[in-house]
Amino acid sequence: MNTDRRDFIKASAIITLGAATNASKAESLFGIQGITGAFELPPLGYAYDSLEPFIDAQTMQIHHDKHHLVYVTKLNEAIEKEISLKGKTLEELIKNINGTPESVRGAIRNHGGGHWNHSFFWQILKKDTKPGEASTAAINNSFGSMENLKKEFEKTALGVFGSGWAWVILKDGKLLITSTPNQDNPLMDLPTGQAGIATKQGKPIMAIDVWEHAYYLKYQNKRADYVNAFWNVLNWDKVEALVKG
Ligand SMILES: [Fe+2]
Repeated sequence: MNTDRRDFIKASAIITLGAATNASKAESLFGIQGITGAFELPPLGYAYDSLEPFIDAQTMQIHHDKHHLVYVTKLNEAIEKEISLKGKTLEELIKNINGTPESVRGAIRNHGGGHWNHSFFWQILKKDTKPGEASTAAINNSFGSMENLKKEFEKTALGVFGSGWAWVILKDGKLLITSTPNQDNPLMDLPTGQAGIATKQGKPIMAIDVWEHAYYLKYQNKRADYVNAFWNVLNWDKVEALVKG
């Protein structure tokens, strides 16, 4: 086993321990949801091994049950500190980062974004679906061909420095490709075009998580293989609904 792999497994074990502590906090928050409006970890919606062999079951389990849960827990902790944010929807929170009190702005941006992005990502994954009519038309209209979309999307996903996301967004009737660092999101009201911030804003249609936690167990440092495999698990049914909606 090489050093990188050993370090990663050690880091995963630490994350798992940390998540177990957060899980008990999260349960207590969820228990008083009616009073606090606390957010909950949504169910994955399918079995952990549903995306095998392209995304492995262990990655899905850790990614959903541990990583996503931490975003939800920390988002709730931030809201507990800032009473004016209680009762707001997740979209209201992430669309108004600039207006968020400074004391919790970073936490809402990172953990609210993390919660939104992952909730979206689970829904955008499914094997054995095919592009629908509306998606195909929109892709051809915006990129010229499916091949061009794939090429540009993969290039963007591979170009994310460090942790982040690549997106296809809908803006003024056109599909565009963009990326965000960390857990930023194209819905956030952050100034575009600046270093470290999404280059474009719009409604997310598809997304790929290129944090190492999304692929390292199976693909290690080979992000390109993971990005390439993504097309086998993209839920075109969901894409179609989003393009139409
Ligand atoms: Fe992730």
